[in-house]
Amino acid sequence: MIVVTGATGNIGRSLVDRLLADGAAVRALTRDPARAQLPAGAEVVRADLTGSAADFAPLLAGADALFLNLAAGGDRAALALVEAAAKAGVRRIVLNSSMAVTDTPADENNFIARMHATVERAVRDSGLEWTFVRGGNYATNALAWGPAIRESGVVRDAHPGAQGVPVHEADLADVAAVALLDRTGTHTGQAYLVTGPEALTVADQVAEIGRAIGRETRVEQITEEAAAEAMSGPHLPKEAALELVRMFGSTVDAPAFPLSDAVERVTGRPARTFAEWARDHAADFS
Ligand SMILES: NC(=O)c1ccc[n+]([C@@H]2O[C@H](COP(=O)([O-])OP(=O)(O)OC[C@H]3O[C@@H](n4cnc5c(N)ncnc54)[C@H](OP(=O)(O)O)[C@@H]3O)[C@@H](O)[C@H]2O)c1
Repeated sequence: MIVVTGATGNIGRSLVDRLLADGAAVRALTRDPARAQLPAGAEVVRADLTGSAADFAPLLAGADALFLNLAAGGDRAALALVEAAAKAGVRRIVLNSSMAVTDTPADENNFIARMHATVERAVRDSGLEWTFVRGGNYATNALAWGPAIRESGVVRDAHPGAQGVPVHEADLADVAAVALLDRTGTHTGQAYLVTGPEALTVADQVAEIGRAIGRETRVEQITEEAAAEAMSGPHLPKEAALELVRMFGSTVDAPAFPLSDAVERVTGRPARTFAEWARDHAADFS
């Protein structure tokens, strides 16, 4: 049995489908099974992971493996789940981590890296088998442009020339699935940097979405402050958002993110392009 946290999320939905297709037993966690629209083949279980650690034992009972996504309840919930998994006899954790983690002291200076590195440490210390999927930057970040593109076709961004290596959620899910289903131990103790296949600027990505929906789209530049304000929310304080915006700024004219071939190495087929992602998500922008 494989327990999937964040099962209705971008990665989770694709992962549940992939695991079921491979014949695995899947327990899919969601705060609201009635609205989750998860496949009938999965055992769908209600779980708000911001609850106390004591509630986690039944979620993990009889499980061999756990897919842990910090999007489902945050880092505190993830730390409690790691502890509960070890107690419940779970054998393996595949952690959805982040390419922000570098295994250097610099991880302490960055909100995103620090949060993921803390959970990685707990997973390593748990004594369980582990694989880290250090993905980034997600193509799904472009969904934030949905309202602007639908309304006017104009995306406001502080750094139109900032470069990313957007990765399709289905590729993150495929890498996670291979690690969860691994029978040979090939993926145990591996931290995979998982990116898309090409570096693209914000302007390139907005143009690609325009091609996918058959409409003109463009980027209008705004200040870093305004961009951070728009990006911040309950799980991303304004200061952390500003850190991110500045980090994106440092990638203008310089491909700061390394391209990785991990998708191909782990799954045996090339990573999906951003153009493919935009076509898969055309309805989100139309
Ligand atoms: N964006 C990037 O570029 C990037 C880069 C590297 C790493 N990451 C990591 O990837 C994560 C995002 O993954 P994703 O896109 O698959 O997530 P997502 O689509 O936002 O999915 C999160 C799911 O978690 C569930 N959830 C939310 N709060 C919960 C709670 N309190 N208890 C239980 N479940 C809860 C929700 O399901 P229900 O509503 O059904 O409960 C939701 O569908 C980030 O949080 C970060 O850790 C992101």
